[in-house]
Amino acid sequence: MKVGVFDSGIGGLTVVKSLLEHHLFEEIVYFGDTARVPYGVKDKNTIIRYSLEAIEFFKNFDIDLLITACNTVSAYALTEMREHAPFDIIGVVEPGILAAENALADKDANVLVLGTKATVASRAYDTLLSRHGYNNVTTKATGLFVPIVEEGLFEGEILKSTLHHYFGELTTPDAIILGCTHFPLIANAIDDYFDKKSLLIHSGEAIVEYLERHYDFRDRFDHTKLRLFASENPDALKAVAKKWLYDQH
Ligand code: DGL
Repeated sequence: MKVGVFDSGIGGLTVVKSLLEHHLFEEIVYFGDTARVPYGVKDKNTIIRYSLEAIEFFKNFDIDLLITACNTVSAYALTEMREHAPFDIIGVVEPGILAAENALADKDANVLVLGTKATVASRAYDTLLSRHGYNNVTTKATGLFVPIVEEGLFEGEILKSTLHHYFGELTTPDAIILGCTHFPLIANAIDDYFDKKSLLIHSGEAIVEYLERHYDFRDRFDHTKLRLFASENPDALKAVAKKWLYDQH
């Protein structure tokens, strides 16, 4: 199978990392809209328009499936994208909810959902969580983490004070849904902040769990061909991919 992966920028590479680790695809075509990131501060119509343009881009490749590795796009644009695409599309919100349900038997568990301003405003996570019986849910827009990750500040004072700024008032949650594909890059810092007492749910791992449940992967691929495209400065995307996907940090 050949899969497309779409994100507003570089964050979707965390999903690519999980796909590579599980050897699910022969080829991955990644497109990051780096010229227009962040999507998380934009309004619904703009997010839908940009996402439909991404569909046009992916039509140039013979993909079997498109993974929208951006929570903001997944929260707003999936219906419109599906209307215009000749291939299947899956987003990251629903797999995240299913992963939460698998991991959390206690429906009264205190769940914290982190996302961009747009994702939180969409209420996509809390609405679905409530449908699955979870009502002790807090959502928090933590958009400053996006540029922090883009700057590669995975530790240090700036990250520490931003964690304190967002989480200072909160009690330790039972589970945290990392509802933005940038956030797995600072998962360790979030985990440490809450003394490793919260269960962290990651879009990349959730999507692998979802794919394995819904598709029949007869073959596993030792080598996956990865093609990286960006709407601006593809070399920068490639440099980040090299570091995140293949080096340890
Ligand atoms: N990767 C995006 C997401 O998962 C966040 C970055 C942005 O604001 O575009 O929502």
